[in-house]
Amino acid sequence: MPPVPARDLARNAETAIANDVAAHAAASLPKSPVEETPKAVSAAAANDGNNPATAVSESAEVIPVPTTDDSTNADKTLVVEWLGGTDGMLRLLDQTLLPNDVRMIDCQTVEQVFEAIKSLRVRGAPVIGVTAAYGVVLGVNESVSGNRPEFDERLNAVIDRLAATRPTAVNLFWALDRQRKVAERMPQASPLEVALALLNEARVIEVEDRAMCAAIGRHGAELLHDGDGVLTHCNAGALATAGDGTALAVIYAAVASGKKLRVFADETRPLLQGARLTAWELHQRGVPVTLICDSMAATVMRQGKVQAIIVGADRIAANGDTANKIGTYSVACLAKTHGVPFYVAAPSSTFDLSLATGEKIPIEERSPHEITQGFGRQTAPEGIDVYNPAFDVTPAELITAIITERGVIGSVSEAAIRKMIELNDSN
Ligand code: MRU
Repeated sequence: MPPVPARDLARNAETAIANDVAAHAAASLPKSPVEETPKAVSAAAANDGNNPATAVSESAEVIPVPTTDDSTNADKTLVVEWLGGTDGMLRLLDQTLLPNDVRMIDCQTVEQVFEAIKSLRVRGAPVIGVTAAYGVVLGVNESVSGNRPEFDERLNAVIDRLAATRPTAVNLFWALDRQRKVAERMPQASPLEVALALLNEARVIEVEDRAMCAAIGRHGAELLHDGDGVLTHCNAGALATAGDGTALAVIYAAVASGKKLRVFADETRPLLQGARLTAWELHQRGVPVTLICDSMAATVMRQGKVQAIIVGADRIAANGDTANKIGTYSVACLAKTHGVPFYVAAPSSTFDLSLATGEKIPIEERSPHEITQGFGRQTAPEGIDVYNPAFDVTPAELITAIITERGVIGSVSEAAIRKMIELNDSN
């Protein structure tokens, strides 16, 4: 089946919202706001019994790999799902448990969403944006029965709270900004009307993200050749987006077009997104994958096993400097040494044209425990000094091309980036 254009996906979301509005109109009063105490709620409460992803009695149960019924993403692992109307809840795949448990958690409060993003239960730039957009809806839910100034105050507090989760992935701020603008565009509306519009916007962001992944896959697949070895770092796959991913979408699209590839997945110290997530995801989807330690990337390149490198991005500055998971810069240097093309795959929402270069990209520093006691076992002396930046910046000159949903930026420069991103934005 041909991929559905983003515009149509967004329109479908709008239809869903129109139904939502009708449902709300039918109810005489808004539902009571949910409690603010963080808790996991029973998935059974929202289970219609038809969706295999929701056919569980308790969110803490281990369940089979859920998939969406979206025909463009038949193999897609369900990572984020909104259930219900404005008083609904957000279901997330808890990625900290992978690859051992495939378990969903249900969020009813903005604090639960804050915790889920901060602790990397949900991670990867695009899906952080989608999650935050839904988090806003959860956060304002308790204020829909109040007056508009109170609602606006709560909305701003919720947006500020979610913005404090992770500083590097610009998709977070991009999605929160979209939500802020939704409310600003309707100053005369009631709190409930704004809440509905916020839910609509979150759904549109989600379907747009899915469409962006598909388009990135289509554009990038042409850069890969039958028989290629492709190295990737961290996880820029279906687990990191509402769709098929960015870097991995390119791989999935190339494989779907009949090319035989072998993926080398860097394990990605210290949190092992490559080992726990990318290796798991590719294995689930039947794509041949070989897991390597980060320190082995040079060797496999020298041995001629890698013909292309594709990574995702958390933020791309106007000149093309790209922040991505720590270790990406080392891989780019190795690519240059070994003459291997180094591709970045990212949607337009990952570009931050307000920053001239990568020097200004805020880099998240995480707990020393991730290095000294990764996954619960002490592996370094107690009290040792640790430096743990979660991201690094790869200079534009090391990037062969940036694959976006709008096309491939073949020769990375500020002019080429602005042409692709700004020109299309104004259309
Ligand atoms: O710390 P994480 O796991 O959120 O880091 C994720 C990455 O670095 C990804 O490569 C990036 O967000 C792109 S995801 C399509």
